Amino acid sequence: DGDVYNYYADGEWKKSSSGKSVAIINPTTRKTQYKVQACTQEEVNKVMEAAKSAQKSWAKTPLWKRAELLHRAAAILKEHKTPIAECLVKEIAKPAKDAVTEVVRSGDLISYTAEEGVRILGEGKFLVSDSFPGNQRTKYCLTSKIPLGVILAIPPFNYPVNLAVSKVAPALIAGNSLVLKPPTQGAVSALHMVQCFHLAGFPKGLISCVTGKGSEIGDFLTMHPGAGMIPLQMELGGKDACIVLEDADLDLVAANIIKGGFSYSGQRCTAVKVVLVMESVSNVLVEKVKAQVAKLTVGAPEDDCDITPVVSESSANFIEGLVKDAKEKGATFCEEYKRDGNLIWPLLLDNVRPDMRIAWEEPFGPVLPVIRINSIEEGIHHCNASNFGLQGCVFTKDVNKAILISDAMETGTVQINSAPARGPDHFPFQGLKDSGIGSQGVTNSINMMTKIKTTVINLP
Ligand code: G3P
Repeated sequence: DGDVYNYYADGEWKKSSSGKSVAIINPTTRKTQYKVQACTQEEVNKVMEAAKSAQKSWAKTPLWKRAELLHRAAAILKEHKTPIAECLVKEIAKPAKDAVTEVVRSGDLISYTAEEGVRILGEGKFLVSDSFPGNQRTKYCLTSKIPLGVILAIPPFNYPVNLAVSKVAPALIAGNSLVLKPPTQGAVSALHMVQCFHLAGFPKGLISCVTGKGSEIGDFLTMHPGAGMIPLQMELGGKDACIVLEDADLDLVAANIIKGGFSYSGQRCTAVKVVLVMESVSNVLVEKVKAQVAKLTVGAPEDDCDITPVVSESSANFIEGLVKDAKEKGATFCEEYKRDGNLIWPLLLDNVRPDMRIAWEEPFGPVLPVIRINSIEEGIHHCNASNFGLQGCVFTKDVNKAILISDAMETGTVQINSAPARGPDHFPFQGLKDSGIGSQGVTNSINMMTKIKTTVINLP
């Protein structure tokens, strides 16, 4: 069936024996854009089995050779940036230029991982025993980093390529095999990315990509004994606060609120999701942000509009629910609320209070609440009262205050005088509380996908 994209297993593109497919709805047209195979649990079992045996010989492949293949995959991916970006535009309505950026960034991430991998995996430690009480120098301990085995990666819809390679590349350089379950919205972009790894010449079974319904194979994958006892790394939601002090450069703040709050229509876990501004500067700031919101272009991702349709109808309905709640409870609407299908016009909500859902919940859409505060403590309190703890940012010219606020904010990262962001991709990236487990970033991800192995030489 030429209409349905095949899944990837054992180095081949295959049809599922289920005879079923899953439709991918274009968020802009709200019509079926692509179809992918609905893989079965039996197919997952086979993929896991192949991954297990391919990993054994991959772990013995010299590190420099693993790096060489990754560099090749990175180059092929970049060569194919245009068709892959076109898929991102159709599947997740990412603005055209951002879609290309995602693919190029992914190629760079793969190359960087290959380079970092040969350095940090090429080193081990040597310890002697007589530093610990009661011991003579009779034991020499050698440590090295070994792979974990089979890694399962489940990236989210908002970066189907980049947040896939951020797991694929570290897993492979460290000598693991990889099973990928892409998000359904974004699955075809991910399959194209996998094709680049296929063309680079990785061994059969080392990488596989199974598509299908989360309800059928999701839990089955995450609970599969084939990937048992592998540590979890999770990147989850956020309610990233932007704290604005009286001495802040308000033009800089406004520009960062626009970029941080509205790029990819707010569908980033690192998006600015609540502005906490000191009352004395709030009128001026809100006016500046309002003026820039008015300049945002709204429409189709093909036209590279700033604001594009959100990923699904249910997502749009959820966002609308938050907006209605804020309306009922008396928030100030800086723009009129407007929606057409999955397209929601950018909206700034001023005078938001803690009893409104939008003060705490993550819209994952182009709607941004402003809460006016009377003290720094009030801002920190609101930030820390959230269950989330991904990133936050603070705007001030006083570096001492900025550091103190950063220390007080219970988030994985605090940005001083810029909007939250994951990149550059070698920086550590982690969430506290409900925002995640473990730490990403190229180096941390490679380390996360290894275990320490020690050999002790006992002298007579
Ligand atoms: O929401 C995904 C998260 O990883 C954000 O990445 O680069 O948009 O900050 P970025």
